[in-house]
Formats: sequence, C-alpha cells, structure tokens
Amino acid sequence: MANYTILERYQKVFEKDRELAERANYIFPDGVTHDSRYTDPFPVYIDRAQGARKWGLDGVEFIDYWSGHGALLLGHSHPEIVEAVTHQMSRGTHYGASHPLELEWASLVMELVPSAERVRFVGSGTEATLMAIRLARTYTGKNKVLKFAGHFHGWHDSVILSVNPPYDAPVPGIPKGLIDATVVCPPNDIDAVERCLQSDPDIACLIVEPTGASFGVIPTNGEFLRQLRGLTQDYSVILIFDEVISGFRVSPGGAQGYYQITPDLTTLAKILAGGLPGGAVVGKKEILNLISIREEKASQRGKKMPHPGTFNANPLSASAGIAMLKIVKTGIPHEQVNRTAAMLRNGLNEVIDQHGLDWAVYGEFSGVKFLIGHGDAELRAADFDPYTWDYRTLKGGSNAELTKNLRCGMLLNGIDIAGNGGMTMAAHTEEDVQQTIAAFDQTIEWMKADELI
Ligand SMILES: Cc1ncc(COP(=O)(O)O)c(C=O)c1O
Repeated sequence: MANYTILERYQKVFEKDRELAERANYIFPDGVTHDSRYTDPFPVYIDRAQGARKWGLDGVEFIDYWSGHGALLLGHSHPEIVEAVTHQMSRGTHYGASHPLELEWASLVMELVPSAERVRFVGSGTEATLMAIRLARTYTGKNKVLKFAGHFHGWHDSVILSVNPPYDAPVPGIPKGLIDATVVCPPNDIDAVERCLQSDPDIACLIVEPTGASFGVIPTNGEFLRQLRGLTQDYSVILIFDEVISGFRVSPGGAQGYYQITPDLTTLAKILAGGLPGGAVVGKKEILNLISIREEKASQRGKKMPHPGTFNANPLSASAGIAMLKIVKTGIPHEQVNRTAAMLRNGLNEVIDQHGLDWAVYGEFSGVKFLIGHGDAELRAADFDPYTWDYRTLKGGSNAELTKNLRCGMLLNGIDIAGNGGMTMAAHTEEDVQQTIAAFDQTIEWMKADELI
C-alpha cells in the first residue's frame, strides 16, 4: 500500500470496522459510547484482550495504552482477578444485602489510603465526586466548589465546567445557579486560589486532581498540593483529592501517599474495582458520618444526607477490587508501570528529536502525554518541561490534523494509544515499548511521505 496515505490505508485495512461503525452510527450518537472513543474517520472494534494486548476484528493485534481508561493497572484479564470474579459470579452478583466482601474491600482501602477514616462505596468516579462535593456542602453549610481549569472530575453539573478548551465557555444543560456556584482558577496558581478563598466566603470545597489535569496533561506538584492543604485549612474549606485515576496507580496509597499530604475527602474509582465498575468516597469520619442514620438519631442536627445506589459495593466489583488491591499492596506494579512509562517517553522523544519535530512526550508516573505541534522548532523534545508552558497549550494545543493522522498511523502499526497519549500497565514489557517506539517512527515516516510534516 505504498502509494496510499495513512487515512486511505486506514479505510482499507479496517474495512470491517468501518462497516460496523456505519451500523453504529444508526444506534449511538457519533457511533460511540464515550466522548473519548470518538475517532475520525471511525473507531476500530475490539473483540478480546489479554495482558498488554487487544485483538480487533479478524484477530488484528494491538498493544494497548488505553489501559481501560486507567482502570487496569496490571493488564487485561489478570489471572487473579479473573479467578476471583469467576468464583464470585456463580455465588451471586447482587445480594441486596451487606456481605463480608465489602468489609474486606474497604479494609484494604483503609489500609492503603491515608485519608480513609471511613469509606462509602458508589457506582463510578462521577458518583464519587458528586457525593464528595455534596458532603462538603452539607458539612460546611456553604455552596460553592472551587476547581481548576482543565481538571476532570466526571461529568456531573458541578464539575464539568472548564474541563476542555475554550475553558471559559458555558457547558450546555448546566443551570445558571450551578455555573455561578462553580469557581474556576487557573491550574498551579496559588495566588489566584488565595484571592478566591479570601473574597468568597461561600466556597465549601476545593477539588483537585493531585497529579494535575487528566493525570498530568497539565501537571502539578507536591509543593502546590501542600500550599492547597494549608490554604484550605486557613479558610475552613474542605480539600477533596480526586484520586479516581491517581489512586492506587501513583503509589499503593495514591498521590496522597506519594506526596504525604492528607486531604479531608478522597474520591476513588477505576483501579479500586479491579477493572469492573465501582467507586468510593473516603475521608474524615465526621464528614462521612453525615450520611449516618444512627448519628442523625443521636444528634439534634438536621436531616442526614441521603445516599442510596443500587450497585454500591456489589459483590462482583468487590471481588475484583480485593484481588486487585492485594496486588497493589505489594507496590511491585507501580515500579513496573513507572519504569516502562519513562522508557517509552524517552524513546519517543528520541524519535521526535531525530525527525526534528516540534512535538513532545512528557508525563509522570505511568503517564505518557503527547503534545503534537507546539510551535517551538528549537526545543528538543527531551528538554520539554511542561511546567514552563501555558496550560491551554498543554491541554488543547495539539494540532488536530496531525493528532488524527498519528492516531490512525499508530493503529495501523499495531498500537492503540489515544491522540493525547496513554498509560502503561504492569503487563507492558520492554519489547512492547520497543515495538511502540518503532511504530511511532514508522508513523512519522508515513506522515512525512503524506507531506503532513
Ligand atoms: C480524575 C477523574 N475523576 C473522575 C472521573 C470520572 O470517573 P467515571 O468515568 O468512573 O465516572 C475520571 C474518569 O476518567 C477521572 O479521571
């Protein structure tokens, strides 16, 4: 197919995927089931997965860096998780009752996550941040949420503003009252945070991704988190670490364990439930107890904060979560994912520099972030320091046409990595990393042949 462009090749090689996508367009808006899975011209379809690999239609093989949107720390279908879930499946998936597994699951969470004095399981990361914010409002009697531009906390009304560029645009469907109740600060700007806290006594909580927006696309650091801890204490504002993606990934105790900073509340999901759906809010006993019926009866305070949820702590997710957290506890996967991610970032940056492109690959821990076409032709990719770049360039500054061709070219070369990067899993080997670097090099060659760069 030497004479075809990347996009023409994509249409030919993934012809069966295109047929499915055409059917999907009559079923789902855009033919997909998650905004991030939207792919132009159409997505590939995955049939099965194992370890670091996924197989598409006709057995086409990919090395996977989506890592289950971050839910898979170990790899696909890890044998211990498969065994635990298979065993549980035949014993029942929903008892509509308390069960021993929820205790074991929560005990592991309390052992690993420093802020976890109490635990409440929920259905997803979005539910977790929704609950944490409502707890903060109930506890403080105040209304507003302070969040950072670019930081993602799920898709409910209080947090969906200012996630993607243009950061100051309204999001459809959010009532004006809630827009007014969401205060947005630029990331990593402690003076802006202090000004907001000083001028607005109605701020109930500050929510932050402790590794920075979208697991480090706009990174942040321990010093900033320490300053946030200090300011929120000074102004009696609840500090929420949204560890839905960083929890159990950055270290067994998440980012708070790594940086040794303890928030008031923490939201968890993804790895928590071992690759199955599930989430949790953990934190100070006196805050979590606002959902306690017993406490409500014992005290003279007003009504308790309601919290139902059909799939809270369901036994299937609990079984997967327990198997996962037992492995997380060893700390071994974290060393592996961080090492392979660093190797991958370095290798990709070498390729970028060999080709003399104004691209960069950066990230911390298991994160591999792409910035495609930043405009500084003099800067070596290896020297790229995201802290010196405007957040609007880091998240939203990549060239859309190049990103699309890179994504399609990488898929054609057997690598499934999103246009803005991905995450490593413990199942990734050094050979996988080398194969990915070679695929990147080949894709860049094709992009040059297509006169895109
Ligand atoms: C930091 C963070 N918070 C919240 C969420 C939302 O979680 P869920 O997709 O389980 O609703 C995500 C999902 O990617 C996330 O990364």
